[in-house]
Amino acid sequence: MSTPSRRTGGVADLIGRKQVVICAGSGGVGKTTTSAAIATGMADRGLKTAVLTIDPARRLANSLGLSELGNEEARVELNSSSGELWAMMLDAKRTFDDLVDTYAPDEQTRDAVLGNPIYKQLSNAVAGSQEYMAMEKLHELHQEGRYDLLVLDTPPSRNALDFLEAPRRLSRFIDSRSLKFFQSTSKVGFGLVGRGTGMLFSVMKRATGVDLLRDLSDFFNAFGSMTDGFAERARHVEALLGDSRTTFLLVTSPREASIQEAEWFAKRLREEDLPFGGVVVNRVREAIGTQPSPQLDTELAGLLGDKLGGKVAQTLGEQVALADVDAHNLADLTRRLGRKPTIAVPEMPGDVHDIEGLRALNAHLF
Ligand SMILES: Nc1ncnc2c1ncn2[C@@H]1O[C@H](COP(=O)(O)OP(=O)(O)OP(=O)(O)O)[C@@H](O)[C@H]1O
Ligand SMILES: [Mg+2]
Repeated sequence: MSTPSRRTGGVADLIGRKQVVICAGSGGVGKTTTSAAIATGMADRGLKTAVLTIDPARRLANSLGLSELGNEEARVELNSSSGELWAMMLDAKRTFDDLVDTYAPDEQTRDAVLGNPIYKQLSNAVAGSQEYMAMEKLHELHQEGRYDLLVLDTPPSRNALDFLEAPRRLSRFIDSRSLKFFQSTSKVGFGLVGRGTGMLFSVMKRATGVDLLRDLSDFFNAFGSMTDGFAERARHVEALLGDSRTTFLLVTSPREASIQEAEWFAKRLREEDLPFGGVVVNRVREAIGTQPSPQLDTELAGLLGDKLGGKVAQTLGEQVALADVDAHNLADLTRRLGRKPTIAVPEMPGDVHDIEGLRALNAHLF
């Protein structure tokens, strides 16, 4: 593939020759925006990039052409770019279905799993399934090797590390005794189920007409014949996360709570021996360059009248104070991170929802 120069400063330096960038961090800090911006910026630098995004704000999704898409990549028109930008919105359910499609030994098993009510619930609701599926897709695209760079956005999860544990959790589930239990239950019948549980199931069946136990064991039996493929994939996915061609970027706001979470996350990445690239501190509030002073107050009052002038002076004072707090937190973080770089991105005047906005952000990211 093309060998454009990647070393053009900022986040580009940090990415270097990596093939996978994972943007992680707590909820609402700008993971999706940063992922899209990085993919755009690297495409502008000549690479063929893909951003795998999760649940983007509607306007960003629209401007990336993602509204009518399922689980396939779509090319995003970048005027005057030497590279290519592709985007896809991850649809956990579809990816799970695709996997079943791949690993089911025959059509009958596939249909049995896909049509099973338990599967329908499970594939939507299994803790971490969205995270796991994001990782699956990432791995698949990486294997195919059609892109110079893949940028993965991570979902807003209560625990920002859910997605790291997702491959393992799925493997554990597959190896779990509950799976074996339900597989054997369908062969032996109700006899194996404890009396209480058996009664519960039969009451439920009478009350709802849903034979939950049957559904469960049918499901686990069909699922069981595919678990080798799943477990192996989960291992590959885990290997990709720790690969030297992968880097994790932590995204945080300059607020103290968010920074603390980012630091804790960084610690976890180190403990897990995962490649940690650096931190993007997003939406840093900046002072406008004028410091409040009694002289300025007088000037403003003269210009705008006492009331409005006073309000402007007050707002300016607040802005300066907020910018001070952010600058202080940023400096603290930079010091504590040691050798790992921090990249500060200011609060933009409006929402970032199109290529133009992403490029404006990139003036700071790169
Ligand atoms: N530097 C910025 N300046 C102004 N607005 C921003 C900036 N970065 C992000 N935003 C806006 O903040 C909102 C949240 O950003 P985004 O969706 O990227 O966060 P997220 O971390 O992906 O959230 P979630 O955890 O819900 O997925 C969006 O409306 C986005 O346009
Ligand atoms: Mg997001």
